[in-house]
Amino acid sequence: MINNPKNTDSFKKVNRDAFTHKHLIGIETLSPEEINIIIDLADYYAERLDDRAFKPNILKDQIVLTLFFEDSTRTRTSFEMAAKRLGADVVNIDLRTSSLSKGESLTDTIQTLHSMLRPDAIVVRHSEYGAPTFISQIVDCPVINAGDSWHEHPTQAILDALTIRRHFGEIKGKKIAICGDIAHSRVAASNMILLTKLEAQVHVVAPPALMPQKFPAGSNSAFIQTYENLIEGITDCDVVMMLRNQKERMQAGLIESEDAFFEEYGLTSEKLAYAKKDAVVMHPGPMNRGVEIADEVADHPTQSLILEQVRNGVPTRMAVMDILMKENR
Ligand code: NCD
Repeated sequence: MINNPKNTDSFKKVNRDAFTHKHLIGIETLSPEEINIIIDLADYYAERLDDRAFKPNILKDQIVLTLFFEDSTRTRTSFEMAAKRLGADVVNIDLRTSSLSKGESLTDTIQTLHSMLRPDAIVVRHSEYGAPTFISQIVDCPVINAGDSWHEHPTQAILDALTIRRHFGEIKGKKIAICGDIAHSRVAASNMILLTKLEAQVHVVAPPALMPQKFPAGSNSAFIQTYENLIEGITDCDVVMMLRNQKERMQAGLIESEDAFFEEYGLTSEKLAYAKKDAVVMHPGPMNRGVEIADEVADHPTQSLILEQVRNGVPTRMAVMDILMKENR
């Protein structure tokens, strides 16, 4: 049992000072080395996650404010759990029903909360592209993007990478298919950027209506191939990552029907058989069973890493807060 992580080699070895950003807005601005710094530390925390006595307390007396302007279950909860496991105090504010609905501007809401709570970090999810960047310009603490519109969801991509690395031992050279509603998905965008920076081979699989016009800024197109056919796209892949259709950001009529979508793009065990024999299935959640994924695949005892992803959300967010909040301790 390690109660004081500061004494352990792997904890000390992580070179937090080589991570130079104040905020985590996206994967776009991170170097491969910086991505690996977060994954290494997340891996350290993942190893100790089941040890309830492991209470590093490195964020003692610090306040983490979570601002969710959009629905969330796993992301908000895992940020809260991560902050608490590091000893921070957490204030969660659900802004779906807030003063904003009374006409208050985003700037006024943020300035009010900032001056009331004096947070040491702010975690924000917002339906508008660029909202976390905007907030980072009007507060004096680190801002962590927990998903903005279809732009980026950096901690999801990092926890996905941690999950892949813990399963296969490496990311470079792995063939990873990302399938479904690529055009409206911030998870797909952050993953395409991260995985190509770490030199994985990314297969992007989507019907033409859900294929993005261009690849996200920061991704390396030399590592990306696009496919309209699911079976062709997942053939020989190590990882098949399925995505939810982002109906909240999708124009009506882009998909004929959910049944027709499942027929062509839903992952079943029959289709998964075209991937490598030891391939694994991932999904950021929430899943729409019977639309993009069949029960037998989602619940597969060895091939599905979906619950492992959820679990890895906590150590990943611990690593991100540890690194970004290093100034105050
Ligand atoms: C994703 C999101 O909110 O972007 N969920 C998550 O954070 N695990 C994906 C989604 O909503 O489909």
